[in-house]
Amino acid sequence: MRLTIGVDIGGTKVAAGVVDVDGRILTRVKHPTPADGDALADVVCDTVDELAGHYPAGAIGGVGVGIAGFVDENRSTVIFAPNLDLCKEPLRDRIRRRIDLPVIIENDANAAAWGEARFGAGRGVDHVVCVTLGTGIGGGIILNGQLFRGRYGVGAEIGHYRVVPDGRLCGCGNRGCWEKYASGRALVAEARELARTDPRRAKRLLDFADGDPERLQGHHITQAALEGDAAALECFTTLGTWVGQGLADLAAILDPERFVIGGGVCEAGEILLGPIRDSFARNVTGRQVRTLADIRIAELGSAAGIVGAADLVRC
Ligand code: BGC
Ligand code: NA
Ligand code: ZN
Repeated sequence: MRLTIGVDIGGTKVAAGVVDVDGRILTRVKHPTPADGDALADVVCDTVDELAGHYPAGAIGGVGVGIAGFVDENRSTVIFAPNLDLCKEPLRDRIRRRIDLPVIIENDANAAAWGEARFGAGRGVDHVVCVTLGTGIGGGIILNGQLFRGRYGVGAEIGHYRVVPDGRLCGCGNRGCWEKYASGRALVAEARELARTDPRRAKRLLDFADGDPERLQGHHITQAALEGDAAALECFTTLGTWVGQGLADLAAILDPERFVIGGGVCEAGEILLGPIRDSFARNVTGRQVRTLADIRIAELGSAAGIVGAADLVRC
């Protein structure tokens, strides 16, 4: 299988590419994510046809699809997607009705983690935990060089471990999940709250949003923080502190050599990484004596999911 197609289904867009064995994306396309499962399978099939059309017949060996949800052990059905409104969706079968190629469905964060582990910030390391900060928090765990899926396919749902008893309500139905405090969406919620309660301190942030806290977006907060705005920096410190604390808990269980942090908020670089490292070092058990895991920012950016999904269809 020299070339495969990787598809990354997110809340707003379906991004896909033709990927070679070295993890390079040769051709790339993007479409909006439709609302229901049937339409979703159609968009994936159209996207695959569109990409494959650029290559000679037989050049594409398979299709790997990453999606933001719980995927079953057969890499075929989306059991549940807390932030996408999908339930028991037989995505692989629907795609296979139109596409006569090997198809696998994988959790989006598992796919991204695999991409980073093979070709990005986790290269050459056998024990890597990838944490993707977006609408939710995605997790991908590589142990002994293997992607860990758990018994039923839904291991590494790290966004839903409870950090606050009776805390904020999560899309999964539970309260106090880590992703309600440490995701990209949590950063935006924090900044909006600050802008509502203390508009003077949030002046620079509000400038980006024409004075309306609800119009504040993640990239505004990053931009303000990069300019040195104190309120935006404080939001990143709050986020990083929550992230670092979660990594400390993950280290207590998994003891990885490296954590790789992904998601749009990483554009803030050290502004985010600094507070994450501090909070991790303050909280991790055995900190006085143990070797601390190294914490890095993802290298493949938004391509990680495409590259990882495309590679996983070869394994
Ligand atoms: C979902 C995961 C997904 C993550 C990132 C979480 O809410 O439960 O399946 O990987 O968000 O998209
Ligand atoms: Na995962
Ligand atoms: Zn949850």
